[in-house]
Parts: sequence; C-alpha cells; structure tokens
Amino acid sequence: MEKYTSEALISLALEARKNAHCPYSGIAVGAALLTKTGEVFLGANMESASFSPTLCAERVAFGAALSQGHREFLRIAVVGAKKDEMPHAFFPPCGVCRQVMAEFCENDFEILLSDGKTVEVLTLDALLPHRFGKEHF
Ligand code: THU
Repeated sequence: MEKYTSEALISLALEARKNAHCPYSGIAVGAALLTKTGEVFLGANMESASFSPTLCAERVAFGAALSQGHREFLRIAVVGAKKDEMPHAFFPPCGVCRQVMAEFCENDFEILLSDGKTVEVLTLDALLPHRFGKEHF
C-alpha cells in the first residue's frame, strides 16, 4: 500500500481523468481507488446524451474494483476541472458517490483531493455523517 503515496494516487487520478467522456458538461474527472490489498482501480466520468445514465469517476472506479472481486478499500483520490484545464480547486465527491462509498467503506476511508498545489485528506465520516446504511435493515 505504501508504494502509493498521496501524491502517487493523485497522479494516477490525473491520468485516469484523460479518459473522461464529458461532451455535455465539459468537466473531466478522474479517480484512483486503493484497495486494502494494494491494488489501484481507475475511473473517469462517463456522460450520456440522455444525462441521467452519467456515471461519476468515483463510481466507475468502484465498479472496476467490485467487478474484480474487491470489497475492502483504503482511500480514493479524486481530481476534476474543465477538460482543457488542469485541476486548480478541490473537487469533492457528489452525494451519490458518497453513498456508494458508504456501502463498502468504513468511517476512516480517506478521500484525497488536490487543487494542483496541496492535497486535502477527508474521511468518509466527515463527508457523510449520520448516513443511512446496512445497519438500518
Ligand atoms: N462528476 C464526477 O465525476 N464526480 C463527482 O463526484 C461529481 C461530478 C462528474 C459527473 C459529470 O460528468 C460532471 O462531473 C459534471 O457534473
């Protein structure tokens, strides 16, 4: 796991971002998700002409990992900006992605954001407190 520093995970998210399909919003997002066993899965946002099928980069990364059998995650790096610009502001995950993270991740799961200068580290608990989850069934 430690071979992926915060900066390394952000770099992978920047690489993933190059594959964003975002002709409608013009916002390109990349994500790099680190499993507890040390694998990284990448995602980029995928938009649709009918809009609602759009998938965020974070959920694409989770789908890639889940479909390969992974269920335990340590952290995710997320970067986003207009597609012709480099990220220059923190790009926090949307509420739907936070809920998907909550399905598989613990309170201390980390969300790494970058504004191109510094890395901010947030926990899932900070981003989605008092959440609805499996314990409510
Ligand atoms: N987007 C993400 O990929 N992740 C987020 O957490 C927020 C939004 C994408 C979806 C859409 O393609 C574009 O950014 C604008 O909302």
